[in-house]
This record gives sequence, structure tokens and C-alpha cells, in this order.
Amino acid sequence: MRTSTSPRPSKLDDAFVLSQLASVPDPFPSAYSVNKLTTGSRRPGHWNLALAWWLVGLGLVLGAVLGLWSFGGPLDPPAGLERHDGLPRRLLRLAHIALVALPALNLLYVPWLGRTGWSDRWRHAGAGLLLFGTLALPACLAAAAFWRPALVLTPAPVSSLIAAVFILASGLLVSPRRLP
Ligand code: HEM
Repeated sequence: MRTSTSPRPSKLDDAFVLSQLASVPDPFPSAYSVNKLTTGSRRPGHWNLALAWWLVGLGLVLGAVLGLWSFGGPLDPPAGLERHDGLPRRLLRLAHIALVALPALNLLYVPWLGRTGWSDRWRHAGAGLLLFGTLALPACLAAAAFWRPALVLTPAPVSSLIAAVFILASGLLVSPRRLP
């Protein structure tokens, strides 16, 4: 029998405990929470998560293509890519690395975004900026390996990536309050 000194936890208490648990950052989200994040294309970060592993795969494919001539064969390097320290080859190498690392950053970013104090409007903005940088930076680097003027485009994705990260960082400072 319950006594008056030990009240049964109410639904409100459960909600409080759940909200406390939700505010603990989890860098390795469970399959359940990833599925929840990826259902519905309107959720902030949906496309970041949906595309991430495809882009990592593309980065590995680019590495495999570079491997065809990078270590003395089986193929001769295409014109302009002969020198390991030449700018075109460095740019392609950077595109390969960025195409693996940036999508991995997206996988980390989206679960953290849910813990910020930002509204969905700002979460969409952060995720969108990150996705734009993730797609555009490797594309610009790879394009610049063959057509140097494309390098002038790189400040756009670079600024976009930096802005996305600072949106996340500032939203975490004020968590769990809602910001505009
Ligand atoms: C299928 C898997 C991969 C393949 C076939 C591959 C292939 C290559 C090749 C051929 C190069 C040399 C390019 C050149 O000399 O111009 C290279 C460089 C590099 N890769 Fe990958 N890669 C793979 C996965 C990765 C992963 C997962 C990472 C980590 C993000 C990575 C990071 C790097 C880095 C940092 C360099 C530059 C190394 C240097 O300049 O000394 N690669 N990769």
C-alpha cells in the first residue's frame, strides 16, 4: 500500500526524466534514434544523414581511382597528375579526403543538432549549410584540379561549413532553451 510520504511518480515526472535523458549528448546514436532522425524528409538533417554514407562511398571510389596511378601503376598518371606534390594532384587528394571526412562530420552533426536550443528553422539552416559545404567543397577541389579558376569558388563552401559548425556550437551553449 502506498503511503502519503512516497508518492507514485506521475506522468509529469516521467516526462521530466525523459527530457533530462534527451539532453545528454550521445555521439553514437542508437539505430532507433537514427531511424527517428531519418524519417520524414522535413526533419532537420534528414538529407545530411540520407546522403552521408553514399558520399563516403564516393570518396573511397575516388581513392581507388587515384590508386590506379599513384603508386607506380597499373596505369600511367593522366597529363598534369604526374607529380605527387603538383597542385592538381594535391587538389584531387584533398577532394578524396574531404569526401570521406565531411560526410562523417554530418553523421556526428545531426544528432548534436537535436540537442541545441535552436528552433527547427535554425536547425534546417545549420544542416543545410553543412550539406552545401559537404557537397560543394569536394566538387570545387576536384574541378580545380582540372580547371584552376574553380578554386575561386571554394570560399563559398568553406564559409558555409564554418557557419554550420558555429550555429551548432552556439545552439549548444544555450541548450535546452528554445531560440528563434
Ligand atoms: C577504399 C579506400 C581508400 C582508397 C583506395 C584510398 C586511396 C588513396 C590513394 C591512392 C591516395 C594517394 C593519392 C595520391 O598520391 O595522389 C590516398 C591518399 C590519402 N587518403 Fe585515401 N584511400 C582510401 C580511404 C581513405 C580513408 C578512409 C581516409 C580517411 C579519411 C583516407 C585519407 C587519405 C589521406 C589523408 C591521403 C593523403 C596521404 C598523403 O598525402 O600522404 N583515405 N588515398
